[in-house]
Amino acid sequence: MKVLKRESVLFVYVALDRLPKDVVHLMEAAIKARGKAYAPYSKFQVGAAVLLSNNVVVTGNNQENASYPSGLCAERTAIYYAASQYPKENILKIAISAGSTKKQTSRPIPPCGACRQAISEYELKQKKPIEVYFMGATGAVAKSDSLSNLLPFTFDKSEL
Ligand code: THU
Repeated sequence: MKVLKRESVLFVYVALDRLPKDVVHLMEAAIKARGKAYAPYSKFQVGAAVLLSNNVVVTGNNQENASYPSGLCAERTAIYYAASQYPKENILKIAISAGSTKKQTSRPIPPCGACRQAISEYELKQKKPIEVYFMGATGAVAKSDSLSNLLPFTFDKSEL
């Protein structure tokens, strides 16, 4: 038997204003997108903003459905739109903000597993890391230097 170990490192900033200006603007775009989420069932609104190598920012939010599994998370809404519109651009950063109308969310809320897998696809495709920033509605912001850090032992195309 051998043991495989991976270390994940997150940097946590106490508040958004501690981050560089470009990240603050990106997160503000995510927060704005969160405000337009369609989440009548969970009451949990998420916004995501993707920064591309051509400087374009693409935003998205979660879209729910009466048939629950048909809904889509904010991160995938944003990243799929970005990749469909700008297939040749690299994805540099993604900022995510999650909130709820039922309770306070002041801790960083990381992307779900399915969204990590989706973001990972583009990181592997472009062979350049995607910085991931995530927060609740308020409070601390966590930063991961690369998506791979959030999804160790990734499933990728080499298995196909
Ligand atoms: N959600 C996201 O948009 N992103 C995530 O990473 C986690 C969950 C959405 C899906 C659903 O609309 C609601 O949050 C509750 O799970």
